[in-house]
Amino acid sequence: MIIIKTMMLGLIRGRMMSVMAGRALTALPRSKARLLTSHQSQHLHSASSSCQKCELTSKRYNVQRGKFSAVSEHDLKFFQELLGSHRTVLGEEELEGHNTDWLGTVRGASSVLLKPKTTEEVSAILSYCDQHQLAVCPQGGNTGLVGGSVPVFDEVIVSTALMNQVESVDTWSGVVTCQAGCILEALDQHVAEYGLMIPLDLGAKGSCHIGGNVSTNAGGLRLLRYGSLHGSVLGVEAVLASGEVVNCLSAMKKDNTGYDLKHLFIGSEGTLGLVTKVAINCPPRPAAVSLAFLGLQSFDNVLKTFKAAKDQLGEILSSCEFIDQSSMECVEGNLKIKSPLDEYPYYMLLETSGSNGDHDEEKLNNFLESTLGSGLVSDGTVATEPSKMANIWALRERIAEALILDGYTYKYDISLPLPHFYKLVEDMREHLGSNVVRCCGYGHVGDGNLHLNFTSRQYEKEILERIEPAVYEWTSQVNGSISAEHGLGFKKRNYIHYSKSLGAINLMKQMKKLMDPNGILNPYKVLPD
Ligand code: FAD
Ligand code: MLT
Ligand code: ZN
Repeated sequence: MIIIKTMMLGLIRGRMMSVMAGRALTALPRSKARLLTSHQSQHLHSASSSCQKCELTSKRYNVQRGKFSAVSEHDLKFFQELLGSHRTVLGEEELEGHNTDWLGTVRGASSVLLKPKTTEEVSAILSYCDQHQLAVCPQGGNTGLVGGSVPVFDEVIVSTALMNQVESVDTWSGVVTCQAGCILEALDQHVAEYGLMIPLDLGAKGSCHIGGNVSTNAGGLRLLRYGSLHGSVLGVEAVLASGEVVNCLSAMKKDNTGYDLKHLFIGSEGTLGLVTKVAINCPPRPAAVSLAFLGLQSFDNVLKTFKAAKDQLGEILSSCEFIDQSSMECVEGNLKIKSPLDEYPYYMLLETSGSNGDHDEEKLNNFLESTLGSGLVSDGTVATEPSKMANIWALRERIAEALILDGYTYKYDISLPLPHFYKLVEDMREHLGSNVVRCCGYGHVGDGNLHLNFTSRQYEKEILERIEPAVYEWTSQVNGSISAEHGLGFKKRNYIHYSKSLGAINLMKQMKKLMDPNGILNPYKVLPD
């Protein structure tokens, strides 16, 4: 059965709206409200709404503007004729939230934001920009954490905010096909009506767009169970810089006809094409979910507990996350939310999901009995009620938000072999000493993905220079990756060589030249200067 239903998925900033057929749900202007995760809805704004405007990226990082044209009255006339004036957004105040990233750490100076609704409109915009040498910054929910989603200079912002239609749900094979601007959480609620789930979940789900997720190859909280988007995304439709539409929107699980071009758009952060539609493989929604929250005395115990969880929980383990004490202090202190456990040096969240609650409960109880009994785990609590699980998840998912309340966040997203995992936090803590307010680690330990963060009251170049390239050198020495899931965007592009060979970087440059010969798509991002 294939259900073809045109639906518009949207949200009021930070608050999920129910999915309604045939009606677009409006969003508050970005200048008035920051993007929020659904957890954040009652609580926070983020950096750029609450603080002074941050310095322009071009100035802070001393960037040379590419040889692009500036948007002229003539260009605006073309955009207005194509989209109408309400979908051609102008004005500094209106664009403020689109020029600044979620962290409030990078800021561009675009003067025009375009809101296409269809692939044809995207194609007309890109073809025009390419012919007139206008640079473009594709933007989804603007929750990216590496400065990729906002312009560096005056690039035309092309937002997918109004491309929020679900085209079809194939309930036999479990595949949803939709436009790129569907908000992740709304899309997940939509497929839930058919007993399915989107195999990706992350703290920014209430704001990020599925096209942004695909373009960053976002990882999130359940990659351990469902794998990366390179596996879950079955098809992509994208528009090249020239305006040519590349239709690789296959919804087949198997399709070996030639080069699998969709992978070029997954994780290329808007530098090779603008993703307009995606087809995603959706697993059945689990009938039973449980969440264990554990306190542990050492990182070694964290690793042994992960290993025991894999061995004993097997196929029902759906997430394995960790939080260190400093991160927990931040989330409790800055957001005033309370952990159900006493203080421990480390915490873990272990989620199980499956089709038989009794079976899963028995397995989880046996696992907890053995790990508590052996002393691997010092304390723990289990939740099965959705509201209780959400409270525990908030402790983990809201750390990013809590950190920005310290002032400025220096954010690192590293893949490491597990034996080296927490040592990087300890070494950097020692290296930075009292220069920083906080040095903390949390993340997707089950995937070997550490989120290493430092904060200071405000941005300080000297602190950045103490962190970089030290953190990348450390990572490269143990054959880790300097970006596990956030991408390279603007901030990390010049460090790509720590994780990729010269040959690989050169091939990437050739691919960029082939697909975007004039370099208009998201310049200053991903590839090094
Ligand atoms: P944006 O931020 O708007 O854009 C991100 C990049 O993709 C930019 O380079 C942009 O130019 C490009 N882009 C956007 N849309 C398109 C398109 N349609 N076509 C081509 N290029 C496009 N990330 C994770 O991987 N895992 C996490 O667990 C996670 N948790 C987060 C929690 C919080 C609280 C926050 C704020 C962020 C988190 N992120 C996480 C980072 C971020 O949410 C992801 O990178 C997300 O996939 C970005 O989606 P977006 O729609 O906001 O994209
Ligand atoms: C997370 O897992 O919470 C996100 O990737 C955001 C972050 O790194 O802080
Ligand atoms: Zn993450």
